Amino acid sequence: MAEAILRGVLDGGVATAGDVAIGEPRPERREYLTRELGVATVERNLDAADGADLVVLSVKPQDLHVVFDEFESELSRDQAALSIVAGAKLETIRKGMKNDRVIRVMPNTPAQIGHGMTMWTCSEQVDQSKRDFTRSALSTIGQEIFVEDEKYLDMATALSASGPAYVFLFLEALIDAGVYVGLPRDVARTMTLQTVFGSTKLVMDTGRHPADLKDMVVSPGGTTAEGLQALERAGVPAALVEAVNAAYLKSIKLGQQ
Ligand SMILES: NC(=O)c1ccc[n+]([C@@H]2O[C@H](COP(=O)([O-])OP(=O)(O)OC[C@H]3O[C@@H](n4cnc5c(N)ncnc54)[C@H](OP(=O)(O)O)[C@@H]3O)[C@@H](O)[C@H]2O)c1
Repeated sequence: MAEAILRGVLDGGVATAGDVAIGEPRPERREYLTRELGVATVERNLDAADGADLVVLSVKPQDLHVVFDEFESELSRDQAALSIVAGAKLETIRKGMKNDRVIRVMPNTPAQIGHGMTMWTCSEQVDQSKRDFTRSALSTIGQEIFVEDEKYLDMATALSASGPAYVFLFLEALIDAGVYVGLPRDVARTMTLQTVFGSTKLVMDTGRHPADLKDMVVSPGGTTAEGLQALERAGVPAALVEAVNAAYLKSIKLGQQ
């Protein structure tokens, strides 16, 4: 995820490779990052953070304490910590990094191709220039939404960060359904992807309610009405609410541990 963000930031010209240093324990990964992105890489995170305006934390949640242990003393007053670690609250990062200037970011994997959806928040001590930089950096990987209230980050975790997995499951099922009724798999794949892409873009470009656009597809007593009825009978709309709510409750629980 950090690599996706970094590629966006470098390609978008928000920073240059010379502005970036990465702390990475594995030598082969350090070599890869320097070769691919031209950035400096070091073994110790403290060395990477030395003199940095923003110290970005992008380890797995279970490795966060290792990083916290490294940062024994406070960051300097002109430094802020930015975390993309799922479930790690502003307060956790503030305590762990011994720093009041904390930014919390929740991206998703389409960030890899510049079509991510990111929600972010920060502590009130983060100054305007760091907020502006964060907004510019995140806009290189897709859309970003800033929220004052951190409670929305658990909702973003459930909807936009987990969301690509729900969509991939839907895509897989729709392709399989095309094969089930007799289409060749490659044709079913092309038709599914273009249908989902085109429908999403239609909602975006027209700004109309999805229900309006749905009504335009449904003829009385027709094939689409039959298909929609089967989806309702199978509980698909309710299952989506269940899925997002389950992920939301899990995110809250993980944040309490
Ligand atoms: N993937 C998503 O959709 C998504 C969405 C939102 C938020 N996030 C959050 O993003 C964070 C990273 O997730 P990811 O999917 O990108 O996982 P990942 O690919 O495993 O990235 C974690 C990175 O941390 C490195 N690392 C491990 N221990 C370290 C240490 N002590 N010091 C410095 N670097 C260390 C790992 O290096 P090695 O490869 O050498 O082990 C690896 O490159 C997680 O906290 C996750 O919750 C992910």
